[in-house]
Amino acid sequence: MYNNTEQRRLNDLSTQMLSAPQPMFEEDAKAQLEQLQTVIKYHEWRYAQLNNPVISDYDYDMLYKKLQQLEAQFPNLCSPDSPTQRVANDLTERFDAAPHLTPMLSLDNSYNADDLNDFDTQVRKLALIPEGVNIAYCVEPKFDGGTIALVYENDQLVRGATRGNGAIGEEITNNARAMRSIPLTAKFSDYGLQKVELRGEALIRKDVFEKVNTQREEEGLQLFANPRNAATGAFKVKDAREVGKRGLEAFVYQLGYAVNDQGENKLDSFATHHESIEILGKLGFKIAQQETKVCDNIAAVIDYCNHWQTIRDNYAYEIDGMVIKVNELSIQEKCGYTSHHPRWAIAFKFKAKQATSKLLGIDFQVGKTGSITPVAKIAPVQLAGVTVSSVSLHNEEFIRSKDIRIGDTVLVERAGDVIPYIVKVIEDLRDGSEMPLIFPTQCPVCSSVLQKSEGEAAWRCENDECSAKIVQKMIFHVSKEAMDMEGFGKSIVERFYEAGYLKTIADMYRLDYETLSGIEGFGKKSAENLRKSVEKAKQNPIHRLLNSLSVHHLGRKVSKLLAAEIDNVMDLKDWTTERFTQIKDVGPVVAENVILFFSKPENIALLEELQLLGVNFSQTDEDRPKQVSEDALLGGKTILFTGTLVKMGRKEAQEKAEALGAKNISAVSSNLNILVVGAEAGSKLKKAQALGTVQILTEDEFIELIKS
Ligand code: IVH
Repeated sequence: MYNNTEQRRLNDLSTQMLSAPQPMFEEDAKAQLEQLQTVIKYHEWRYAQLNNPVISDYDYDMLYKKLQQLEAQFPNLCSPDSPTQRVANDLTERFDAAPHLTPMLSLDNSYNADDLNDFDTQVRKLALIPEGVNIAYCVEPKFDGGTIALVYENDQLVRGATRGNGAIGEEITNNARAMRSIPLTAKFSDYGLQKVELRGEALIRKDVFEKVNTQREEEGLQLFANPRNAATGAFKVKDAREVGKRGLEAFVYQLGYAVNDQGENKLDSFATHHESIEILGKLGFKIAQQETKVCDNIAAVIDYCNHWQTIRDNYAYEIDGMVIKVNELSIQEKCGYTSHHPRWAIAFKFKAKQATSKLLGIDFQVGKTGSITPVAKIAPVQLAGVTVSSVSLHNEEFIRSKDIRIGDTVLVERAGDVIPYIVKVIEDLRDGSEMPLIFPTQCPVCSSVLQKSEGEAAWRCENDECSAKIVQKMIFHVSKEAMDMEGFGKSIVERFYEAGYLKTIADMYRLDYETLSGIEGFGKKSAENLRKSVEKAKQNPIHRLLNSLSVHHLGRKVSKLLAAEIDNVMDLKDWTTERFTQIKDVGPVVAENVILFFSKPENIALLEELQLLGVNFSQTDEDRPKQVSEDALLGGKTILFTGTLVKMGRKEAQEKAEALGAKNISAVSSNLNILVVGAEAGSKLKKAQALGTVQILTEDEFIELIKS
């Protein structure tokens, strides 16, 4: 429908439109409006038809908002075929048409607390509810899959359909039947209902998506970019058996239509939206029960949305926000609808995790152990609330497997605390000027010839004198993870190195604070703070010192294991491979690297210097393995958390359990004592139930237990 040249033009136009100022005069408005409509239709086509968007949802929403604003400002310019007047079309003509019983509308969007407060004010106005009287809202996950509509007549599933253009969908009844989470019969008659239409979302769990993709890779098939594509692809296959194989599931979240055997509207059979959903759960449908919360007021809604923004990545399914619905159906009725969305509901969109950007160039960075990491410089984009302008490309193989070229438009993702990464290249936007990458054969800093060991992905600079390596080692030495010297960040290390105050790690412990307090931008106070944190670091337990030395393969975990076995750091000098590998979880590769480190005279000299400068080399209490008291509440018990914890973070829960004497383990086996199940727990729960020996607790029960 759009050729490559046109697509590039529309992409550039989208970028321009995003920053275009609001026009004052009708003439300008008309031109802008047409351009906005054109680019929005193009992006809807990429999203709905190709399942392959080239802009972030957020940017799409911003274009859409601009169009809405313009149309509100100049109502006579609004045409009936404007994207604001209908929902995006995903009809593909491969299936029969299925007219919906009531229009399947979209949702209005919100992005922050102000938007939600505005929504509350609007609901108040429409339903004539005075300030001071709280409105209750039902808040539920906004699933990111494919919308489905299910019709039941006389308790039988008679039709499944996609959303299509909102008025007419595509008939996919056989595929709906193939989904085990959709009951073929449900006793709606118990509630006096003869015909109903339910709305919901067809989804694939994130872990199932990974498996589906792995299998496709083995079979040489094209990979799905994300779980949403895998889901919408699966429920539109022509062979219904395939649906079952792809692990497609359906949640229901809305009763769209309900009549009794007289054909009378019975949507008012229930007092609240929440009640109607609970009943759907009882009738055998999959609902997001644990994740859904009725909030007494908009402030509680805002808290709950923000909480989910932080835990979304731990959830078993992709969600792109929360949906807030007025809970009382009588208030919903007073609010009514626009042609696009109900006025009683709104989506709260999470900050975008994905965006496209231009790859401007590639830097090669030298790490603390000499590994060369290619880093993409990209045009800055906002991802999950942070501006991202450089993205690691890991290694040469990663670049080759994704065929990343300079000048490419790339899809970038930053999920939660995970570092940003490139999901894929958008090949449709190439114009032929993109440059394949030439990986260097020499260190970009010291020019020594790069080496690659067998079984390793990274090229490495082996020159211990390489200034980049020296600086990176120092930066790591002072970092939180290693010696934790507050006030000694990356930029100070670089500055002091360049000024000649630091040549080796030992120099950090013999700084001349008098001189430092005299240098520009680094006053007496900074110098004094630095002195204090260096003094403090000297007392660190030895596992920190071991980790701080940047020995290849010797990380925090192994440093702790080694520290528990020695009295003094220098003891390791005499250790053999056998001695290392006697320790559980310490392998020959670590052994080889630590032995190599202690075999170099310059390293021994450094350690001796550090010792003389007062750095602690002897085992401390913190280095010794902890004895868990059998009397503690969870003393001697093993515990595992699965599914999404809705009330506390997983890390927090694990720490609490540990503090009470439990040991966190990562797999279900006969060794497991307690399994705590959050929302949407998967195979681990089933396995534990099958074992029959595991105590299974809900999140609430676990909280009760630790309180006691
Ligand atoms: S309610 C009339 N609830 O979001 C009510 N929609 O942009 C309209 N969605 O196409 C829908 N989770 O597929 C509703 N808990 C939820 C939802 C949800 C996901 C999707 C739905 C719709 C889109 C709206």
